[in-house]
Amino acid sequence: MRVTVIGTGYVGTVTGACLAYLGHRVSCVDVDADKIARLRRGEMPIYEPHLTELLAEAAVRGGIDFTTELEPAAAESDVIFIAVGTPPRPNGEANLSYLEAAARSIGAAMDGARFRVVVNKSTVPVGSGNLVETLVREGIRETHPQEEKRIRFGVASNPEFLREGCAIADSLYPDRIVLGAEEEHTLETLRALYEPLIAQRFEAPADVPRPAGMTRVPLVTTTLTSAEMIKYAANTFLAMKIGFANEIANVCERVGADATEVMTGIGLDSRIGAKFLNAGLGWGGSCFGKDIQSLLHTAEEYGYQARLLEAALAVNRAQRQVVIQKLQEKLFILKGRTIALLGLAFKPDTDDLRDAPSLQIAERLVQLGARVKAYDPIAMAACRAQNPDLKIQYCESAMEAVCEADAAVLVTEWEEFRGLDLAQMAAVMQQPVLVDGRNLYDPDAARCAGLDYSGIGRAGRPRFASARVSSNGKVAAFNTSTTREPVVALLDRSHN
Ligand SMILES: NC(=O)c1ccc[n+]([C@@H]2O[C@H](COP(=O)([O-])OP(=O)(O)OC[C@H]3O[C@@H](n4cnc5c(N)ncnc54)[C@H](O)[C@@H]3O)[C@@H](O)[C@H]2O)c1
Repeated sequence: MRVTVIGTGYVGTVTGACLAYLGHRVSCVDVDADKIARLRRGEMPIYEPHLTELLAEAAVRGGIDFTTELEPAAAESDVIFIAVGTPPRPNGEANLSYLEAAARSIGAAMDGARFRVVVNKSTVPVGSGNLVETLVREGIRETHPQEEKRIRFGVASNPEFLREGCAIADSLYPDRIVLGAEEEHTLETLRALYEPLIAQRFEAPADVPRPAGMTRVPLVTTTLTSAEMIKYAANTFLAMKIGFANEIANVCERVGADATEVMTGIGLDSRIGAKFLNAGLGWGGSCFGKDIQSLLHTAEEYGYQARLLEAALAVNRAQRQVVIQKLQEKLFILKGRTIALLGLAFKPDTDDLRDAPSLQIAERLVQLGARVKAYDPIAMAACRAQNPDLKIQYCESAMEAVCEADAAVLVTEWEEFRGLDLAQMAAVMQQPVLVDGRNLYDPDAARCAGLDYSGIGRAGRPRFASARVSSNGKVAAFNTSTTREPVVALLDRSHN
């Protein structure tokens, strides 16, 4: 099929690449000429593992091009995806101005030559499908009113569930595909588009293998409104689940329990599930906060107060301050102290800093008079460019960041940090205080390495480890009871 994808951000670029990889002919359109120029040169405007390789393959298979000209691309297309941003307005409501502009432009590009499906992939409030239809019609009327009766199109909602950092695997091997539309012809067109994906009838890319045993992707077909609600309900549930883990962790800390063990214990219940139960310093990213706010706004419009959603936002906001409290407990005074932040991106394997906890933590530390050093394997350039006024000293390595620091905070659980030499870290720090904001490290191992360790919701008493610390303060031996390791290993550490 011929496909146009409007918006070449995290969602649009990956969607375009995957559809072309499946054999469709794809044009990706953006109003940002610089982004398009970079994509044409084969440079990625975002960091997403394996995207460069997939785009190269996509160009050979179905074919893919990048353009700022919507009209010629849309005129040739059977399916036109809208994947533009829908950021929050100050009152929480989704800003639909990009979506509205895209919909009008689609109308202007239409003619009577073929039936087209306009698909909302952006996360949009209930009723946006209807709005898109109205705006496409207005676009048609404004540019070629005489053609209006001849032009046939359908509108669908196809919410996106990909996670940055593993977006390609999520797109090629999704848990489900959701399609919402009011007429059968529209649904039929999209079923045909996704058929290779639904039946998993494509050769898996070398770097992104198909999960073992996967033969088919469940397809949910529903109305426009229900499809739009499915996306919001999914994201708000996930945000609440993490918030729940954080809330329980805060209680665990007070009563002397270990949140990672508690979450392992409840996650094994199949009604609960092990994913998204990692306690930490709160979720971030471009979706959870904005989607909860948008759903709250919708509920309010209908006279309903969604208390659980309000609480999910409040719990997350408070969780970001937990790190500051822990630092104050350890160091008492933050003025003049040097704090090292390990990780800036809102989660590993992305350069996305939208609503990243690191930014709020850094801002608060600076307000309190601390000096902030930071290291992130990927997101430092983006952080510097997007936050020119934020006083952060960027470092070339984790060790450089923690060197002479009074405390280190593990903010993003990049794989690289898992392998840090904790004993060396303790040795180079001014004070060996480590706040593990993602519960990445084994507390006993960290303490044995000489660090003054605190995690999130992890009671301070070493219970299973026996360690001998030599006279110079370095670890001489470390033993962990064999009964402990397998239990905690069951906690699913995949992130949002
Ligand atoms: N990022 C994610 O992980 C994710 C996951 C699922 C769903 N979503 C949803 O998908 C949508 C897109 O998110 P994103 O993260 O890709 O956004 P993004 O900000 O990375 O990209 C949006 C792109 O749209 C372009 N754009 C804006 N108006 C345009 C127009 N009229 N014509 C052409 N291009 C236009 C912008 O220049 C930008 O490049 C949002 O609604 C988001 O909530 C995002």
